Amino acid sequence: MNSLHRLLETPVPGDFTATLAHEILNPLSTINLSLEMIISEAKEDDLKIYLDIIRRSTNRINDLVNQIIKNHNGNEAQVANQSIHHLLDEVVEMAQDRILLKNVAVRKEYDPTDYIVALNRLKMKIALTNIVVNAIEAMAPKRGELKVVAMPFAGKYVVQIEDNGCGISEKNLKKIFQTDYTNKPGGLGIGLASTYDILASNNVKVHVESQEGSGTLFFLLFDKSYAPQPGNKPD
Ligand SMILES: Nc1ncnc2c1ncn2[C@@H]1O[C@H](COP(=O)(O)OP(=O)(O)OP(=O)(O)O)[C@@H](O)[C@H]1O
Ligand SMILES: [Mg+2]
Repeated sequence: MNSLHRLLETPVPGDFTATLAHEILNPLSTINLSLEMIISEAKEDDLKIYLDIIRRSTNRINDLVNQIIKNHNGNEAQVANQSIHHLLDEVVEMAQDRILLKNVAVRKEYDPTDYIVALNRLKMKIALTNIVVNAIEAMAPKRGELKVVAMPFAGKYVVQIEDNGCGISEKNLKKIFQTDYTNKPGGLGIGLASTYDILASNNVKVHVESQEGSGTLFFLLFDKSYAPQPGNKPD
C-alpha cells in the first residue's frame, strides 16, 4: 500500500454502559434501512423479504436487551472458552442483513487450526460486530468485499478484518478509537471506543492499517496466555 497509515494500540479497559446503549441502536438502524427500501421500491414480492428483515432485527433488539438485563443482575463476568472460528461466524451472521442490503461479498479465510480462548462472548461479539459494521458502511454498494482471516501468528492467534472501502486518512486514523469521533452523518462515534475497551478487557491487541480510497485492515492479536486451562471445556 502507498502512503500506508499505521496505528498500533494497547487498549486500556474502560466503562461499558455506553457500549450497550449503542448496540441497541445498531439493529435499529437496520430496521430503518429496510423501511427505506420498502418505501422506495414498494413491490409486493419484495415486501415480504424486507418485512422479514425488520422482524429479525426486532428479535435481535429483544435479545440484546435481555442480555443487558442479565448483565445488570450480576452476571457480568461471563468469561468462557470460545472458538475463534465460531465467534467470527456469529459476528458475520449478526451483520448478515447489512451485508445483504449492501450486496457485499464476504470471503472467510480460516486456517484449519482454530484457537480456543477465554473471552466474554457477548462483549467480544459486540466489539467485532462494530468493526464489521464500520467496514460495511465504508464500502460502496455492490462493490464491497469483506475479508475475514483467522490464523496462528508468532505463537499467538491473529484475526484480520479487511474491507475495500473509503479508507481513513493518517490524521483521522489517530482519532478512530476516541469517544465521539465520527465523520458519518448520524454517526455517534461510540462504536470503536467501546470496541477498544472490550478488546482491552479481553487482552486482545489491535492494530489498524488504512489507505484512503483503497480500504482498511484491522489486525486483532489474541494472546496465548488466554488459552484454556486443562480440564476447561470449550462451550
Ligand atoms: N473500516 C472503516 N473504513 C473507513 N472508516 C472507518 C472504518 N472504521 C472506522 N472508520 C472511521 O472511524 C470513525 C469512528 O468509528 P465508530 O464506529 O467509533 O463511529 P461511527 O461508525 O461513526 O458511529 P457509531 O458510533 O454509530 O458506530 C467512523 O466515523 C469512520 O470515520
Ligand atoms: Mg461505527
